[in-house]
Amino acid sequence: MTTSSPYYITTAIDYPNAHPHVGHIYEKIIADLYARWHRISGYKVYFMTGTDENGQKLQKSSAKHHLNTADFIAYFSDSFRTTCKIFDISHTRFIRTTEAAHHHAVNFFWDKLSKNGYIYSGDYEGHYCYGCEQFYPENQAVNELCPVHGTPLHMLKESGYFFRLSHFQNKVIQHIEDNPQFIYPHAARDEMLSRLRREPLRDLSITRKNSGWGIPVPKKNEYVIYTWFDALINYYTPIHTQEFPQNAWPCNLHVIGKDITWFHTVIWPAMLMAIDIPLPKTVYVHGMVLDGQGQKMSKTRGNVITPQKLLQYFDLDSIRYFFIRSIPSGSDGKLSFDQMKSKHNNELSNEWGNLVSRVIKLTIKRCGQHISAPISWTDSNAENNLIKDKHDLYTKTQNFMHRFEHHKAMDALFAEISQINAHINEQKPWSIEDADALYQVLYTFIYRISVLCALLTAFLPDSSKSIWENVLKIHFNSDHPLSQSEFLQSKNIQKLPKFTLQASSAIIFKKIMTENFDLTLKS
Ligand code: MSP
Repeated sequence: MTTSSPYYITTAIDYPNAHPHVGHIYEKIIADLYARWHRISGYKVYFMTGTDENGQKLQKSSAKHHLNTADFIAYFSDSFRTTCKIFDISHTRFIRTTEAAHHHAVNFFWDKLSKNGYIYSGDYEGHYCYGCEQFYPENQAVNELCPVHGTPLHMLKESGYFFRLSHFQNKVIQHIEDNPQFIYPHAARDEMLSRLRREPLRDLSITRKNSGWGIPVPKKNEYVIYTWFDALINYYTPIHTQEFPQNAWPCNLHVIGKDITWFHTVIWPAMLMAIDIPLPKTVYVHGMVLDGQGQKMSKTRGNVITPQKLLQYFDLDSIRYFFIRSIPSGSDGKLSFDQMKSKHNNELSNEWGNLVSRVIKLTIKRCGQHISAPISWTDSNAENNLIKDKHDLYTKTQNFMHRFEHHKAMDALFAEISQINAHINEQKPWSIEDADALYQVLYTFIYRISVLCALLTAFLPDSSKSIWENVLKIHFNSDHPLSQSEFLQSKNIQKLPKFTLQASSAIIFKKIMTENFDLTLKS
């Protein structure tokens, strides 16, 4: 890796037929965590999210509200964009699939697929769900009901165009088998592999009758392209238009929910293989955010909690803390405001916030605001140990992040917080009288806290930034404050940094006192 190596990460693109709910923002936060992690690790990050706008379902929803489809979609797309902004999601591109740039990329795919002989015209008859906009094979259409919505499927006969998906069965299996890093977690990988080995792949119907909405099939305006087929191509759009550099492809990471794994790990790879474009390196599949009763949160079920409702009680970092640490990677997780409160008060505020405040206050009181590395150490290995421990904690966290086990990464960081707290209680710096010994002890604590703060930047960006910039300025020489990334990457033992400390009057993670959370739905 060089400092300029690209790291391209995406979320799924959302349907803009309603305001976002907590499940949508959960996905953005997880993707944002990986984006920020790679930034502090020195990569140039390209991070894309956006809205999926060409489905006929959206046309139907707008008609129900007697609204113009384009206006209806623009309104909700804006709501997704604004929510990302409010949640400080660090994306570098927000794509709307009604953009001309995206239409160009889709036409490019269509042409190449046709030239390569993977598109043909024909008739299709099968069980269709209007909600999912897809046909279901017999074995999934139990009692002729949609496996997702539970509503009756419609027998539909359509003529149109097909993608030769069946041709790619063995190739996709082979790719998944040969590349263990292609799908995380491995439970999702195993599920896809067993389905692929069990079910023969059928060719995919990739057009619908043109009802005035969608991307028309090139030179066949009576059809539009099936919305999933066009939506998947969004990931390639900024590469096709050269908005992102060519070496940002293959995309490093698609972050998606488990309900759409098949599209991303079977259909999308087959589309790319068919036109000889390398496959994304990893598809990371997260679980679902569930309501208090353990039901998936979704608009159809009417049990959604809005992201704004979360913000009424919690700040951004408390929300991130809960999502990242309390929902194990790949698992579903119940949203509980009471648990969020107790985690905020007991872990963020008591363990981390208090640690920072009390060490900074004590150091300023006993050693002053400016502290440099001690000139001599009682223990000759102390300097080496500091650098080594920083490196070890960084590597440990990185290993978890490479395996997409972000909850374990967070556990490791909070284990270090507990350990520092325990060391403080053992060493009782407030009662050390020897000035040199005290200075060494406090420098060590400040140094360990700054390592944590730098690493936590990806997980808890708001509080970490404010601690880094306001409470704990770090430099190698007097006028150049270090960034978190510079500090983490530096291995030079000659260069233990200097700190300028600022007693913060603001309490870090103020306690939440709310007794009863009002969960009334307002969207
Ligand atoms: N438009 C398609 C994705 C196309 S990607 C080429 C779609 N849209 S969606 O709005 O229904 O979902 C967008 C993302 O949000 C998906 O990854 C989905 O899994 C995720 N979630 C939707 N509800 C969710 C929860 N309750 N919890 C967590 N994620 C959820 O699918």
